[in-house]
Amino acid sequence: MKTTQVAIIGAGAVGTTFAVALYQRDHLIVGVASRTRQSADRCGSLVNCALCSTDPVEVAKVANVILISTPDQVIKEVCDQIATGGGFQKGDIVIHLSGALGSDILASAKREGAYTLALHPIQTFPKGQVSTEILPGCYFSLEGEKEALEFGQKLVEELDGKAVIVPPEAKPLYHAALCTASNYLVTVTNIAAQMLERIGIERKEAQKMVMPLIWGTVKNLEKVGLPSALTGPVSRGDLQTVEGHLEIIQRLSPEYLEVYKRLGSLTAELARQAGTLREEDYLKLKKLLAS
Ligand SMILES: NC(=O)c1ccc[n+]([C@@H]2O[C@H](COP(=O)([O-])OP(=O)(O)OC[C@H]3O[C@@H](n4cnc5c(N)ncnc54)[C@H](OP(=O)(O)O)[C@@H]3O)[C@@H](O)[C@H]2O)c1
Repeated sequence: MKTTQVAIIGAGAVGTTFAVALYQRDHLIVGVASRTRQSADRCGSLVNCALCSTDPVEVAKVANVILISTPDQVIKEVCDQIATGGGFQKGDIVIHLSGALGSDILASAKREGAYTLALHPIQTFPKGQVSTEILPGCYFSLEGEKEALEFGQKLVEELDGKAVIVPPEAKPLYHAALCTASNYLVTVTNIAAQMLERIGIERKEAQKMVMPLIWGTVKNLEKVGLPSALTGPVSRGDLQTVEGHLEIIQRLSPEYLEVYKRLGSLTAELARQAGTLREEDYLKLKKLLAS
């Protein structure tokens, strides 16, 4: 891929990670702008960039690839600000990284003759950290015009990722699916930690206790996939154990009874698909978990 002159607008977790990853692959990071000068300077210092600013327009002006890595709610505002200030040129590639928004939010850049791209890394980037090591092997969804898609595909190849094209109308469900896999895993882990707290285990210890279990489950998912990765009492049709769970949750963690039953019921369906559950046990479990 041709070396590009990249501007990073929004020097947070993802913006700084992309800046470093692109710099490591010989792209020039010609400018970094952020809401605060401090974040722009921090990112700039990692990628040998002299132009660090709080003004996205001056930074965009010197680049031909403009990566808007601000929070979702200000992407449009920042894009419009750059367009109004004359920061885009014909043929520029303008990218945002949101999984929930389409490339149409960059319409003001398109009107200036730029190609617009929504490029979403399917990965989680912790706040305040530079996480280049988690990019290789990631999937990236792409959505935009032909020229922008071609650019995005090359970029993803360079980052050792895998590109998948997601049409704009599919984006809300696409994003809901990813939130379920990532965010709600954290929520489910929190439920487990709180149940352990109810029996006197300290919160931090509870988190540590479940981590090897979660890793084991994830590795199993990677190894044998869905639905075979499922283990546990529901998958074995162990009704007595599940009855015991419902009873103790009702007594000690009643706020989680409904979610436990709902997840248990969906788990029974998965176990049925996996073929580990006899039909009669499946029906009994469904009844128990619906009661
Ligand atoms: N985090 C993830 O796991 C993840 C995963 C995939 C995609 N994404 C997407 O990546 C994008 C960035 O998310 P993030 O997690 O990196 O957010 P973040 O860590 O909060 O960083 C956002 C940065 O944008 C800057 N900013 C805020 N308002 C601005 C403005 N008006 N002008 C210029 N800069 C502004 C902030 O600057 P200051 O630091 O100077 O205040 C901050 O550094 C979002 O579109 C998000 O949906 C995130």
